[in-house]
Amino acid sequence: MNPSWRITILMNNYVRASGLEAEHGLALALENVGDGSLILLDTGGTREAMLRNAEKLGVDWSRLSTIVLSHGHHDHTGGLLPLIRRLSHSVALLHHPDAFLPKAGIRPAFHPIGAGMGPSDLPPDKATLFPAANDVRLAPDLWVTGEIPRKVEVDREAAAGFYTSRGGRLEEDPVRDDKSIVIEKPGLGYYLVCGCCHSGLINTIRYVKERVPDKKLLGVLGGLHLIGASEARMDATLEELTKEAPGLLGPIHCSGLRETARIYKALGPEVVAFYSVGDRVEL
Ligand SMILES: [Fe+2]
Ligand SMILES: [Fe+2]
Repeated sequence: MNPSWRITILMNNYVRASGLEAEHGLALALENVGDGSLILLDTGGTREAMLRNAEKLGVDWSRLSTIVLSHGHHDHTGGLLPLIRRLSHSVALLHHPDAFLPKAGIRPAFHPIGAGMGPSDLPPDKATLFPAANDVRLAPDLWVTGEIPRKVEVDREAAAGFYTSRGGRLEEDPVRDDKSIVIEKPGLGYYLVCGCCHSGLINTIRYVKERVPDKKLLGVLGGLHLIGASEARMDATLEELTKEAPGLLGPIHCSGLRETARIYKALGPEVVAFYSVGDRVEL
């Protein structure tokens, strides 16, 4: 299978190589192998760390066409403003309309976890905003999911404990802004690249499966938000993954170490990879 996208992990919770930085955050650069253009999924958590990693990894920001925000949590949006300010050209910013709402977590106590900024903070000559709640195709073989229905009961855990404020009312946040990237391999199947997967991995797989021409799940890379998952959710997730039998699983960021170990035990070393900052994955 010829790779069409080369993904570089610019930020993640783990690092092996010295000189690169890790933090609780995610940023993935997706480089089109054909034309060299770049799509960035998320921007890391703290302001400049992702940019420092990108520089050491030789990322050419002049090739950046689009930034996709997987959702509005700060560990995915923290590097957005510094990156936009550094660009010398204008890029598209694809996000769900809820992504810039105020957001809060409740563990260990109520605290803000949103982007801490709004669209008006972005220089208009550097970023054109595309708020979208629907699926959006960015390339012939790559698209971004819209709102994913929460059909599987145990998957509601993936958005538990989050709050938002809408029209002056504090309410539970189902993280409707959650988006994943789908890479289609014609005649073969598809890859899923997730930010935090707050829609739930099972919900996300089933949603995408209904929308791709080739239904075979080839692999999953990204944050799976399985950290702290109940036994029932782990069992259901492992059952789904065993049934789908992807050839590659790269659980990073918020997937959870214990939970990743369970996946490793169930699916084996040929399937499960442990990726760090700086690793490159060709899909
Ligand atoms: Fe998140
Ligand atoms: Fe996250």
